[in-house]
Amino acid sequence: MLENMKDMLNKADSGKYAVPHFNINNLEWTRFILEECQELKSPVILGVSEGAIKYMGGYKTVSNLVRSLISDLNITIPVALHLDHGSSYESCVKAIDNGFTSVMIDASKYPLEENINITKQVVLYAKDKNVTVEAEVGAVGGEEDGVANELAYAKVEDATKLVSETNIDFLAPALGSVHGIYKGEPKLDFERMIKIHELVKLPLVLHGGSGIPDELIKKAISCGICKININTELQIAWSKDVRKYLAENNVVYDPRKVIKSGEMAMKEMIKEKIILFGSNGKA
Ligand code: 13P
Repeated sequence: MLENMKDMLNKADSGKYAVPHFNINNLEWTRFILEECQELKSPVILGVSEGAIKYMGGYKTVSNLVRSLISDLNITIPVALHLDHGSSYESCVKAIDNGFTSVMIDASKYPLEENINITKQVVLYAKDKNVTVEAEVGAVGGEEDGVANELAYAKVEDATKLVSETNIDFLAPALGSVHGIYKGEPKLDFERMIKIHELVKLPLVLHGGSGIPDELIKKAISCGICKININTELQIAWSKDVRKYLAENNVVYDPRKVIKSGEMAMKEMIKEKIILFGSNGKA
């Protein structure tokens, strides 16, 4: 069932678990994720970046693909279709107009006032269409860094200001995680996480969830993290098995066989994350 993230993340907040956000890249990934989450009865957020939307053909194609798979595969768990790191108001509007049930507006690269202004406009557009909005404060680092810049950690006063002035549904505060592969162990600021969660009274989102040790993930959930974004670890698991399959089958040319050769590894990783996050059986 396609829905926005409100109910699933509010339940996660009070139940002290986290709903997985898995990034999708194509039809097969979407199917593997939906099937495994259905198997484990976990709610799921299908996150789609602007790059992945472009790769798959466009907003409408992605929206129709997800809707059709939910119907054809008889998926009954709660599923949210979420724009990941929407870079502009226009991009969020496009996602909403094409049936995404949730959007992230990431205006964190701008000064706080501008971040607030852009985020406010997105909330205004999304609210009467029953679409939920996530925003970012501070700046989550990228693959090139492998380690978070402590100067870019979210400030408590910026987080409370952004939330009180924009009426967003969920907040992603940058508190030491990075996208891609970590260099060393991430330094998550749990004290600040607790403070922000207490003050903003909203479910918090952890970006850069791949590669964070299990104990730190559990601690983050106990500090108010209700949604954890995973992309890199699924990519690594999938590509490792595809490489192995190609090395062992050097005459294979059917793309279905090639893409499918990463299915089991991906499903194993999805299962591992769902059990770690505690979302199994919550659908
Ligand atoms: P990873 O690169 O750690 O998987 O993070 C994905 C993410 O945060 C997408 O928004």
